[in-house]
Amino acid sequence: SKPLVIAIDGPAGSGKSTTSKEVARRLGIGYLDTGAMYRAVTVAFLDSGVSRDDADAVARATREAAIDISLDPDDYWVKVNGRDVTHEIRSGRVTENASAVSTNPDCRADLVRRQRALIDSDARGCVAEGRDITTVVYPDAAVRILLTASEDARLARRRGDVGASVSAEKLRDQVLNRDKADSKLVEFTRPADGVHLLDTTNLTFDEAVSTIVAMAEEAR
Ligand code: C5P
Repeated sequence: SKPLVIAIDGPAGSGKSTTSKEVARRLGIGYLDTGAMYRAVTVAFLDSGVSRDDADAVARATREAAIDISLDPDDYWVKVNGRDVTHEIRSGRVTENASAVSTNPDCRADLVRRQRALIDSDARGCVAEGRDITTVVYPDAAVRILLTASEDARLARRRGDVGASVSAEKLRDQVLNRDKADSKLVEFTRPADGVHLLDTTNLTFDEAVSTIVAMAEEAR
């Protein structure tokens, strides 16, 4: 049978990264964080001194960026142009500048192509998460899920990730304004045809993971 592919989309703070990673662990398959690829390319263009307003230069920096990303949910790392950027890609500077990559159609086309190749490279199968996996990157995935949670729940979860260092205003900006901007690029606020909506507001982490694992076992 074909390797199992699970596509998961959702907004910031929906818990899609931690949930997807744990689903991959339980099923013994790969894990691809596509947002990390947008972030890694952001580091590359910022490092090379390219202005975020120069769309052609951002597209060129993307094309030329060698992205190395682990598909192992137990050993997660990202490298760009040979440099480990696993931690740096979570900085405010990168989060704030990633839209220069994600709003650029040439960058998206390039990254989508690489994401498909990465997903197909794992013979065990793969859980891929992002904003456009269920609709653009892998609409043929055996299991397609849109993970959501209430605004309050998402803010609280992101607060747990970033700690007290970030102001409430900045946090709202990093979560809600980013979602608003991102949802103009790809539709991830409503599930596409055949995509299961999973609202995790009132679910524990374990319940969310088990729900997806059960769907995967049914599809396998
Ligand atoms: O998921 P994460 O917050 O790490 O994604 C960082 C940014 O990358 C998002 O704000 C979005 O602009 C972009 N992105 C995207 N499509 C994806 C994943 C991420 O446009 N599949």
